[in-house]
Amino acid sequence: MAKILILPGDGIGPEVMAEVRRIADTLAETHGLAFEFEEGNVGGAAIDAEGAPLAEETLQRALNADAVLLGAVGGPKWDSLPFDQKPERALLRLRKELGLFANLRPAIVFDPLADASSLKPELVRGLDLMIVRELTGGVYFGEPRGIEDIGGGQRRAVNTQVYTSEEIRRVAAVAFELARKRGNRVVSTEKANVMETGVLWREEVTALHAESYNDVSLEHMYADNCAMQLVRQPKQFDVIVTDNLFGDMLSDEAAMLTGSLGMLPSASLGAPDAQGRRKAMYEPVHGSAPDIAGQGVANPLATLLSFAMMLRYSFDHGDAADAVEGAVTRVLDRGLRTPDLVQPGTTKVSTREIGDEIRRE
Ligand code: NAI
Ligand code: MG
Repeated sequence: MAKILILPGDGIGPEVMAEVRRIADTLAETHGLAFEFEEGNVGGAAIDAEGAPLAEETLQRALNADAVLLGAVGGPKWDSLPFDQKPERALLRLRKELGLFANLRPAIVFDPLADASSLKPELVRGLDLMIVRELTGGVYFGEPRGIEDIGGGQRRAVNTQVYTSEEIRRVAAVAFELARKRGNRVVSTEKANVMETGVLWREEVTALHAESYNDVSLEHMYADNCAMQLVRQPKQFDVIVTDNLFGDMLSDEAAMLTGSLGMLPSASLGAPDAQGRRKAMYEPVHGSAPDIAGQGVANPLATLLSFAMMLRYSFDHGDAADAVEGAVTRVLDRGLRTPDLVQPGTTKVSTREIGDEIRRE
């Protein structure tokens, strides 16, 4: 039986996770899912219960699980802790120990929410693109780094962008494989015109494509142009693959095409094992929303859609993932909205109520 570790975390994490659990129970009946759920503490909740943001035992359970579903971590209660003891450390540790190098950030516009976009509704209606961001390399991690005195009252700061062939190829492979299950098109993005890492990126992606994925359409695009194209004509994209830095920017830009933080899921994947199974962690893009925590009004859909990604990418349960996404669309179509999405003419519902309606659908 597939083992899923649930880490609800802090703030609204437990509230939204409770709805996902109930919907998962319904899916177990309707779609024959056979999952064993375990729960653990992460972030501030783990600091309070176990004295550290990620207990060793929880980490071991994450390593042994087939997938991890995380709510959110952090909150004012733990803000004054030193940097290396903060709740957010748990996320970095999980990513590192699970070897999660590919961050998947879909930007999907559910038609009833097309008006919430930062763009004109007609530009985004039906939008469904996926950004694959390299997550463990590049300028955020490259050595040397640091700030040094260079005399004359001047200081110099250094961050180095480093990528190896292997780091580029493994994330590009994720993008190509995803594309095959979607629109079969990949845009690879870098700055090969001004960066050596961009030159290597383009060469490795091109070579991997020729060797193993020439059934997928591949286009190269400079990252600045990609940023522009995302707001000009976002529906031209299917899968975008890019490095850590550009991926950080482009995925946040793409997120705003959908307009609502409460709707954005994500997945982080590691290398496949001998059975082709990847370590994986799924989580909403939003944080713990301390301003609304405990009120029963948080939008559970980002976490639910993260769970749907888990069904699709970790367990090949595309049918159940489709059922979840279809139910979300129908509930939104009926005008039901948590407060973050309420517009004139829609009906305000609670976290629990929208969860109930999704189960019914
Ligand atoms: P946030 O995403 O928690 O909240 C930003 C705003 O969006 C707030 O007004 C919040 O009420 C609203 N919001 C977020 N998710 C929502 C949802 N599902 N339904 C309805 N409204 C929602 O970001 P913020 O305020 O910058 O950070 C709060 C805490 O969360 C901090 O401690 C931060 O470090 C942590 N955080 C954790 C993340 C994670 O666990 N991956 C990611 C981002 C922030
Ligand atoms: Mg960012």
